Amino acid sequence: MTPVPALATSLGRLRLANPVLVASGTFGYAREMAGLVDFKKLGGIVPKTVTLNPRAGNPPPRTAETTSGLINAIGLDNDGLEYFLANHLPWLASAEVGCPIILNIAAKTAEEFPRMAARVRGLPGIAALELNLSCPNVAGGIDFATKPELCRAVVASARDACPDLPLLAKLTPNVTNLVEIAQGAAEGGCDAVSLVNTFLGIVIDWRRKKPVLGNGMGGLSGPAIKPLALRCVWQVARAVKVPIVGIGGIASIDDVMEFLVAGASAVQMGTVSFYNPTAATMVIDQLPEALATLGVHSVKEAVGLAAKTWQPTP
Ligand SMILES: Cc1cc2nc3c(=O)[nH]c(=O)nc-3n(C[C@H](O)[C@H](O)[C@H](O)COP(=O)(O)O)c2cc1C
Repeated sequence: MTPVPALATSLGRLRLANPVLVASGTFGYAREMAGLVDFKKLGGIVPKTVTLNPRAGNPPPRTAETTSGLINAIGLDNDGLEYFLANHLPWLASAEVGCPIILNIAAKTAEEFPRMAARVRGLPGIAALELNLSCPNVAGGIDFATKPELCRAVVASARDACPDLPLLAKLTPNVTNLVEIAQGAAEGGCDAVSLVNTFLGIVIDWRRKKPVLGNGMGGLSGPAIKPLALRCVWQVARAVKVPIVGIGGIASIDDVMEFLVAGASAVQMGTVSFYNPTAATMVIDQLPEALATLGVHSVKEAVGLAAKTWQPTP
């Protein structure tokens, strides 16, 4: 009998039973999905970004459909860290959910990252921290991941403040050289980089002579961005020695496999959850067969298979 391929994966110090997670901001605080999704099957849940203080977010409309995609400018609407710890974390950490919770945090100033990281140090129920260094929809929120040195410093400060938790740095693709930024995050001591957040875009209502979103510009996600996100993973995988979480337009088992062989050790599925909440658990069920088709015995063997071996035709 052929052995079942091993689904476990590692992101530095973070061990996951399988490589398929759900992305921040697209799965709420998971409660919204209860009854629809078997959480225990998931590699992990990344809840909506939490900031130190509550934020009201951007004026509506905050989302709009585009060709093969979704554009949003939510503006990090959330009730703040203390509210999250008191009202969401106990349930997220409970046996009813039963999968790793990766707390995604964003900050207005560089100092807020270590402050928040220190606050959650030692708290039960948090498997890892993901620093949202990359939200395109809030003033200042993008700056941390546009300069390698700043990115390195912010990651290092969060790691020092909370040395026991694995640390993921979520980066923006809206930069000239993502490889340099990922290198900065790696030097800062992150366990993995999450690639990528949304691509800056705009939708315009020409009849009304104005942008559709209340914020003007927004971030594009969904199937439309998959080749762009895959390119980001590919470039970083070939240049930087840091595990990668691939994000962007992933909706099917083929998408997951493409990201794995491009160099991602895990993936997050985002926009797809809005129209198919069980997409992530569905691809987890399909993963063993796809790995067998690839001719490997484990997820770890699949990671980077294309990125490591492929050379351009001379
Ligand atoms: C409505 C919406 C809200 C989002 N909110 C967050 C957020 O709070 N924090 C974050 O790190 N990413 C956020 N994202 C970005 C996603 O986590 C993901 O990086 C991006 O959508 C690309 O993946 P996808 O194409 O699978 O959606 C949001 C995306 C959408 C569509």
